[in-house]
Amino acid sequence: MCGIVGYTGKNPAKDILFRNLQKLEYRGYDSAGIALQTADGLQVVRRLGKVANLVQASADTDPTSTCGIAHTRWATHGRPSEANAHPHRSCDNKVAVCHNGIVENYAELRERLVAEGHTFRSETDTEVVAHLVEKYYRGDLLSAARAAVREMIGAFGLVIMHADEPGTIVVARKDSPIVIGQGKDGCYVASDVIAVAEATRDVVVLEDYQFAKLTPEGMSFCNGDGQTIEPEHMRVDWEIDETERGNWPDFMLKEIHEQPRVVRDTLKGRMVNGLLSIDELELTPDELGFIDRVYVIACGTSYHAGLIAKDLIENWARIPTEVEVASEFRYRNPIITPSTLVVAVSQSGETADTLAAIRDARIRGAKVFGITNVIGSRIARESDGVIYTKAKKEVAVASTKSFIGQVVSLTLLAMLLAQSKNRLNTAQIRVLFRELADTAGQIEEILSDTKAIEAAAHDCADAQSALYIGRGLASTVCYEGALKLKEISYVHAEAYAAGEMKHGPIALLHEGFPVVAVATQSPIYDKTLSNIEESKARGAKIVAVATEGDDQIGKYADHVLFIPKVRDAFMPITASVVLQLFARAIAVERGCDVDQPRNLAKSVTVE
Ligand code: AGP
Repeated sequence: MCGIVGYTGKNPAKDILFRNLQKLEYRGYDSAGIALQTADGLQVVRRLGKVANLVQASADTDPTSTCGIAHTRWATHGRPSEANAHPHRSCDNKVAVCHNGIVENYAELRERLVAEGHTFRSETDTEVVAHLVEKYYRGDLLSAARAAVREMIGAFGLVIMHADEPGTIVVARKDSPIVIGQGKDGCYVASDVIAVAEATRDVVVLEDYQFAKLTPEGMSFCNGDGQTIEPEHMRVDWEIDETERGNWPDFMLKEIHEQPRVVRDTLKGRMVNGLLSIDELELTPDELGFIDRVYVIACGTSYHAGLIAKDLIENWARIPTEVEVASEFRYRNPIITPSTLVVAVSQSGETADTLAAIRDARIRGAKVFGITNVIGSRIARESDGVIYTKAKKEVAVASTKSFIGQVVSLTLLAMLLAQSKNRLNTAQIRVLFRELADTAGQIEEILSDTKAIEAAAHDCADAQSALYIGRGLASTVCYEGALKLKEISYVHAEAYAAGEMKHGPIALLHEGFPVVAVATQSPIYDKTLSNIEESKARGAKIVAVATEGDDQIGKYADHVLFIPKVRDAFMPITASVVLQLFARAIAVERGCDVDQPRNLAKSVTVE
């Protein structure tokens, strides 16, 4: 949440900062700002809206400045406005700060600073940092930053400059990601590795309460007491062009089309000599066999992947499995014993609630296993073992390919647990694995002809609300489908287990109200069909996702979106792709910004 970049070196800073800031726009786009070191002190420009507005407004800034910081905001404290945009400054305008996170005790700090004579110009929590640094500054920015951080409670990734220290950027972190690297031309800092990787593949991921000082000559690191430290370096091994949109109209469509590759890459190397292998779990077969309860903890789309996992783990391994929203789990008193496995699912690997939940689970004695897409992310580092989903960088705010990577990874985990409990034998596992691998080709088939999906979307594009219904695994697909629709098209959408319709939601139906029904072949297909009929009888417009060869469904549905025949356990992988395309097509029809929906950010690093 919020993107931070900084650069100090030999080259003009402005264009470097803008280029890198644009790569972080997925983290928030309410407002943006830049501060440049110039011979006349700090030059600051801030604008409401996206980075493009800031670039335009910064045309007259000093083109020769070689040191600066910049920020793209997702508002927490204070509405999106120019006054609340970062960087924030001290009273004397000599300190500039960009911040990602929340200073939880800002109200108390602000009150004290005001009493000491400081004047505030924004409603943000961040501004206290600028004033604290000003208060403690005695000619050494690093010492002042350390003193300021000692007073702060909360989460922060901070980049700070002082007008009296040209070329210097001080960096601090607690619970918010900060990546630093030294390129040929200077030093770079950002809240995501993609904004540093173009300059260097050798990066430092700062740990909590570590500080860095960047100058054109190099970087140095210390702890909160000012003692020099040598942080761990990490190698970035992916290609830069993976984060380019190319000829695709939006990242979301590009990422949807990458899903067959994601399935194949996630499965690569998992079947060794006919046996399923997930070495990263770091649990012996005996330890695996000992597990008697699973908690899947996640948020949003990742939570929906967890719902699918519950069905598979309970069905195949017969291990009771709970799926919990991380923001609830962390404040409950869950039943955790040494035989509990906690699985944290997170695309970004930095979702604040999921991270807090796994920390809590570990304290309670659980083994924590992470499923994430980001190598070296916080959740990956703080889990006992981790599966990487191989989706590669996901740029669109709406998760698509990372979801498919999560579902495939969780399916493998369910199979492994079943294998270790002797609930599935080797031959059964091999058959399942082969069918799971086949879903890659089935997704390709869906992607090869999307005309029916587009026609259904066109017919529903003016709707204000929609209901998604399904039974069993199909209901989990509906939860994710409804989330996709509301987040990118702003159509109010709710998902219900189809059997629940008559207990309330059916009251919403009227002539033309869209009901998206996932009615694929399963033992409870006929029950879903009855629920579709009930909706149809009340005038609903039915969009059905059904299995190829189903010659009944056409009698009830206004639009039928077919998926290839697939085992029910793997149906979420293919049916979800249809609903992703459906949601995107509606968003495009409605003229929405598919990749950067309003009010959202890709990584949610605040509570
Ligand atoms: C889904 O499209 C959203 N972007 C959102 O619900 C997301 O899945 C959620 O914020 C969790 O993020 P994570 O997977 O990075 O933890």
